[in-house]
Amino acid sequence: MSQKRVRKAVLPVAGLGTRVLPGTKTTPKELLNVVDRPILSYIVEEGRAAGIEHFVFVTGRSKGAIEDYFDHQVELEAQLAAKGKTAILEQLLAELPKPGEMSFVRQMAPLGLGHAVWCARDIIGDEPFAVMLPDVIVDAETACLKQLIDAYDSVGGNLIGVEPVPDSECHKYGVVDPSGDASGPLVAMKGMVEKPPTGTAPSNLSIAGRYILQPEIFPMLAKQGKGAGGEIQLTDAMAALMGEQAFHAFAYQGVTHDCGDKIGLLRANVGLALKRADLGEAARAAITALL
Ligand code: UTP
Repeated sequence: MSQKRVRKAVLPVAGLGTRVLPGTKTTPKELLNVVDRPILSYIVEEGRAAGIEHFVFVTGRSKGAIEDYFDHQVELEAQLAAKGKTAILEQLLAELPKPGEMSFVRQMAPLGLGHAVWCARDIIGDEPFAVMLPDVIVDAETACLKQLIDAYDSVGGNLIGVEPVPDSECHKYGVVDPSGDASGPLVAMKGMVEKPPTGTAPSNLSIAGRYILQPEIFPMLAKQGKGAGGEIQLTDAMAALMGEQAFHAFAYQGVTHDCGDKIGLLRANVGLALKRADLGEAARAAITALL
């Protein structure tokens, strides 16, 4: 299928992170550590592995540390070099953006995820783009966003990353309403339901934090009023666009860690530490001793 490539990703990082306060009082949620690096470092790594060439961060007040994280720390780098700590120095340098690879746009007030994505409209322009929720780490053999882009290359339109959850859990999530067979990884959609009461969910496919959207979402967002929680919701604009364009849900392979709440953040730390070649054994011993 001949269509424009997904080159850009929007990372909305302007939220208040109230579920993990007081940790997020002075540190942006997206810079909280998982094992030994910020959550955001995992997200950018995933985006790069998926071929993203331009990351658009939607930041807000007191989020300046995010821009600083993706820049040189001259004194620190000099000290590490002087002390011969070359491995960690190389790791820091390898993560820095190429010139022009990152843009930062300001959301003046946290009016909702939909509003945050809309703030990126001029930088995205007239091309399909990814949205990566920067508090969701997906531990996957093939980068989660790469899996989505591969699926997008075959069906086009708009794609929403989903994760199957037990029926008893569906009431906690936004859930996909399939328009046909929902047994394979790629499912045509006719709608979404936010937190369906137990027993009423149209599927067990929960919306997970990775999207590929067409630029026609922006006019939908522009006219979107406040939705659930008094916020401008991305899901409302997607529902409006669904009347005009195809949407598919795509069940990616991988383990999803929602680092936006306390237990999810703890689970991410434990899960990813256990998998690390250099730390796994020691982590297992420490955790076992605690249990
Ligand atoms: P969340 O709802 O998970 O983040 O939004 P939050 O609002 O920061 O968290 P809580 O509920 O208060 O704990 C998902 C992502 O969207 C961003 C957040 O920074 C988060 O990474 N976001 C949310 C914005 O950029 N702007 C907003 O207005 C809302």
